[in-house]
Amino acid sequence: MTTPAAVIMDAAAYAQAVEDAVTASAAYYAGGTSALDDDAYDRLVRGIAAWEAGHPDQVLPDSPTGKVAGGAVEGDVPHTVAMLSLDNVFSAEEFTAWTASLARRIGHDVERFSVEPKLDGLAVAARYAGGRLRQVITRGDGTAGEDVSHAIGTIEGLPETLAQPVTVEVRGEVLMTTAQFEHANEVRTAHGGQPFANPRGAAAGTLRARERAYTLPMTFFGYGLLPLLDTEPALAARLGELAHSDLMDQAAVYGVNTTATTAVPGTTADSVEQVLARVQEIAALRAELPFGIDGIVVKADLAADQQAAGSGSRAPRWAIAYKLPAVEKITRLLGVEWNVGRTGIIAPRAVLEPVEIDGATITYATLHNPADITRRDLRLGDHVMVHRAGDVIPRIEAPVAHLRTGDEQPVAFPETCPRCGSAIDTSEQRWRCENGRNCHLVAALSYAAGRDQLDIEGLGHTRVVQLVDAGLVTDLADLFTLTREQLIGLERMGATSTDNLLTAIAAAKSQPLSRVLCALGVRGTGRSMSRRIARHFATMDNIRAADAEAMRQVEGIGTEKAPSIVAELAELAPLIDKLAAAGVTMTEPGATPPSSTDSVTGDHDERSEGASGPLDGMTVVVTGAMTGPLEKLSRNQMNELIERAGGRSSSSVSKKTTLVVAGEAAGSKLAKAEDLGVRLATPDEFAALVADHLT
Ligand code: IVH
Repeated sequence: MTTPAAVIMDAAAYAQAVEDAVTASAAYYAGGTSALDDDAYDRLVRGIAAWEAGHPDQVLPDSPTGKVAGGAVEGDVPHTVAMLSLDNVFSAEEFTAWTASLARRIGHDVERFSVEPKLDGLAVAARYAGGRLRQVITRGDGTAGEDVSHAIGTIEGLPETLAQPVTVEVRGEVLMTTAQFEHANEVRTAHGGQPFANPRGAAAGTLRARERAYTLPMTFFGYGLLPLLDTEPALAARLGELAHSDLMDQAAVYGVNTTATTAVPGTTADSVEQVLARVQEIAALRAELPFGIDGIVVKADLAADQQAAGSGSRAPRWAIAYKLPAVEKITRLLGVEWNVGRTGIIAPRAVLEPVEIDGATITYATLHNPADITRRDLRLGDHVMVHRAGDVIPRIEAPVAHLRTGDEQPVAFPETCPRCGSAIDTSEQRWRCENGRNCHLVAALSYAAGRDQLDIEGLGHTRVVQLVDAGLVTDLADLFTLTREQLIGLERMGATSTDNLLTAIAAAKSQPLSRVLCALGVRGTGRSMSRRIARHFATMDNIRAADAEAMRQVEGIGTEKAPSIVAELAELAPLIDKLAAAGVTMTEPGATPPSSTDSVTGDHDERSEGASGPLDGMTVVVTGAMTGPLEKLSRNQMNELIERAGGRSSSSVSKKTTLVVAGEAAGSKLAKAEDLGVRLATPDEFAALVADHLT
C-alpha cells in the first residue's frame, strides 16, 4: 500500500518540485531536519519521475531521480566500489513482478533470497586495515563520501579492532536507537541546542558534527562486507564468492554488529512466498523494535546471481527495498489536554492537527508528564514529528525546531486539578491530584469491576456513573454493601438486573487476592505484578506488613518501585480495611506465606514465586486463539493458569522461553518459536498438561 504521487501539472510546477526536493534532500543528508517527512518526499519524487516520463527532453540536471542521494551532498573520499541506493516496491504484487524481471535478466529463478530489515539510518563504509578501524566514510553521492572518522569510538557495534587482523571494508547503517535518540535530545537541549526531529536526523547530524562538547552514542549494523585494494588476495577472492548471508556471518565473526543480534535477524528464503511471509513477520515486529526500520531489503543471496544481475547507476538489480508504510509524519501541535486517570494521575495529552499515518487519522499523542514537555521543549503551534507504529499509542518524537516562526507559545501547566480543583502533588515526575483515586472515582471503579480484575458483570461504565451520581458509592468497598432497595430505585434497574448485579458483586468477594490487589489500582502494579505480589506474600496482612526491602524481594520490583508501592498501600489502608470487613477475599489460594523470619522483614527469600506444579521453572508464552477446554479463557486467565501451575507467563518469545502454546491463527510468535526451536504445544496438549489446575 502506498500514498499517491504528487501531481505535477506544468514545467513551472516541475521546476518548483525539483527545487523543493533538492532542499529537502540536502537537509536530510546534512542534519535530517527537512520540512518534508519521508512520505511527503517520496510522493514528491514519484511525482517528479512521472512528469519526467512524459517530458524526457525537459529533465533538469538537479532532478533527484536517477541519483543515489537525491543531490546536494558533500564528500571527497572516493569509494572503491560505488555505494548505491535501492529501488523500491510497495506491495506483494510489485515485489513478485520484480522477482520475475530479475529471473528473466539472469535466465533462471533466483536460487535463494536473503531478507533483512531496512534500517532507518544512514549508510557508511568502514575501512579496516590489518583489523584496525582506519576510516569511516558516508555514502555521499555514491561515488565519493565524506570522511567522518572523528565519530570512531562513538558508534556501538563498529569495533575499533576486529577479531581477526583482516583488511576489509564493512558497509552498513549508522542509526540511533530510540533510547539513544531520547538521550541525544536531552543532552543537546541541556547544552542549549535545538532538539533533533527524529532518530534518523539525529544520527545524520551527530555523525557529521565535529568538535562537540559532548558525545552522543549511535549504533551500527553491518549489511555488506567487501575487499579493499590491499586485501590479501585469497581473502579478496573468498569474499567475492561468498553468499550475502555467509558474508554477514563472517562480519559477525569479525565482531561487527549485524541484524543477527536483533529480534528481526536477516534470514534466507527459497521462494517468493517465503520472502513474503518473512516480510509480514518483520512488519509485525516493527512496532516493538528498539530502532526504526522503514522496510525490508530483499537480496539475491548467491554471489553468482548478483553478478549475473549487475547494477544500474543508481541501484543494484539484485536487491530491492520492500517499503513499509511511513510511521512518521510532521504535523502541528495545537494544544495540550490534561486528563485525570483512575489513580488521580494528571496526564498531559497532545492535541494534533489531524494527520494520516499508515491508514489511521491521528489527532492525539501521548506526552508522559510535565517534565517531558519541558525536556522536549515543545511549544504550542510547533511543527512536530509524530510517530505511530502498529497499535502503539502515537507519540511526539520532537518539535521540528527549524520550522519555528516565533509565534509558538509555551505550554501552560495546570495549577489545580483540572477535574476537581484540588491541589496538585507535583513532588514526583507524574503529577497527581491530591484527592487521589477519589478524584476520578468512576474510572477507578470501572477498572476495578473489569474482566481482569473483579469481573463484575453488569457493572459497566454507565452503571458506575449512575451509582456514583446517586451517591450510593464513594469508594470501592461501598459496592459490597449495596442493598436491593438502593439499586431497584435507580433508573433502568428492574428486579432482574438488580438481582443479577447483586449476585455478581457477591461473587466478586471470592476473587483471589491477586485480583483484589489489581482492582485497587496501586500504581506500578498491573495484572501480572499483582499476581506476583499476591503469590509472594499469600495474604493481604503480609503485604501490608512488608517494608520496602521486603517488597523488593518480589521479582520485578526494584529500589524505585518498592517504596512507592509500600507508601500507596499505606494510603489505601482504610479502604482495604473496609473491603476486608465487607467480606472480600484477602488471601491467594495455593500460595504459601513467607516464613515469619524472612520476606516480611526483608531477609533474602530463595523461594520460587510460583506455586509448584507441572510448569515448575518454565517460562510459557500463549499465542493465537485458544480452543477446546481453554476456549473461554482470556489471555489474563491463561496467564493466571500458567502461574497457578508453577510457571512464569510472558508475552514475548525469546531464548528463555520454554514452551509456546500456539492456538489458531498464531502468527509471528509461533514463527519465532519455530526459529528458536522452542517447544510447542496445542491448546489441547497444554490443557492436558495443566489439567489439575484448571478450575
Ligand atoms: S544494501 C547495494 N541492506 O537503504 C546495496 N541497505 O535506500 C545497497 N539500508 O543506501 C545497500 N538497511 O543506507 C542494504 N539491510 C540493508 C539496509 C540498507 C538499510 C539503507 C542503505 C541504502 C538505503 C537505500
